[in-house]
Amino acid sequence: MRIFLTGGSGFIGRFLTFALAEQGHEITVLSRNLKKPFPFSPRVFILEADPTKTGAWQKIAGDHDAIINLAGFSIFNRWTEKVKKEIFDSRILTTKNLVEALSQREQKKIHFFSASGVGYYGFQGDNFLDEIDGPGYDFLARLASAWEQTAVAAEKFGARVVLCRIGIVLGRNGGALARLTPLFKCCLGASLGSGKQWFSWIHEQDLTNIFLFLLENPELEGPVNFTAPNPVRNRELTQTLSAVLHKPYPPLPIPEFLLRLTLGESADMLLKGQRALPKKLLSNGFLFKFPTLSIALHDLVG
Ligand SMILES: NC(=O)c1ccc[n+]([C@@H]2O[C@H](COP(=O)([O-])OP(=O)(O)OC[C@H]3O[C@@H](n4cnc5c(N)ncnc54)[C@H](OP(=O)(O)O)[C@@H]3O)[C@@H](O)[C@H]2O)c1
Repeated sequence: MRIFLTGGSGFIGRFLTFALAEQGHEITVLSRNLKKPFPFSPRVFILEADPTKTGAWQKIAGDHDAIINLAGFSIFNRWTEKVKKEIFDSRILTTKNLVEALSQREQKKIHFFSASGVGYYGFQGDNFLDEIDGPGYDFLARLASAWEQTAVAAEKFGARVVLCRIGIVLGRNGGALARLTPLFKCCLGASLGSGKQWFSWIHEQDLTNIFLFLLENPELEGPVNFTAPNPVRNRELTQTLSAVLHKPYPPLPIPEFLLRLTLGESADMLLKGQRALPKKLLSNGFLFKFPTLSIALHDLVG
């Protein structure tokens, strides 16, 4: 299959591009910066353009069999109004331009996978959250809702749209683990606030397998939770990561007020969470290779 990817230079984009190319797919990666390190493969082509701006790249995007839309300014920044605008615009404008690219092509089925996050659900305490649950009201929830609504517009042009509600991705070369592991290795890790908040996560290999599964099962569409079937509380994450790294369980949590003081509104991402379940994947027979956090962490950092 010929697959067009935005955000392919990022943490998820890099391992996904590599894995898809390994499976024999041809990948066109759109990046704003050709100087970034990209996975090397004769089946990976890099195209330089800014996806938030319209351009000749849109015609090329529309000529593919599938689009995977991952581009977006990192949410791991202090959320000033300027940063919030960049987080929002980078995702909404990119998605809008991709949908416009689809509107310009001749009718033929195309798979459109657009990233979103479990942040869509907002903060709903201990409730289990699956694909039929509604959105929350905080900044990330409103962002994810707007991002999804923009992507769904591609259905009008004959695309099969999958809204990828991704949990926190645990992988070898970036993401949350790259931030946490060095701290825990120096015995500086700790649970956050009450430690009761839920953490919905996914191993990078299962994330790749989900994309492959969805490419093979075109009848699945709409929102799909890309999360492992066993979300954990922050306290259990702390406990499991310490155990896997053979470090003592950190005695003191980082107090909520300190995180709020340092991170402002974005501290919510760490102090609150979602208990998301991959209901659609499980009911359609997807098998997780890393269903529990302990198995995933042993594989990645054990
Ligand atoms: N990682 C996670 O745990 C996680 C969880 C849930 C959802 N997600 C979502 O999945 C997507 C990929 O995540 P990731 O962790 O791989 O992100 P990442 O490492 O930050 O990469 C995102 C990519 O987006 C592009 N980008 C950055 N700023 C941009 C801007 N202002 N305008 C247009 N493009 C921009 C960059 O590509 P170029 O510089 O090459 O253009 C970058 O490589 C993101 O949208 C993220 O919100 C991630």
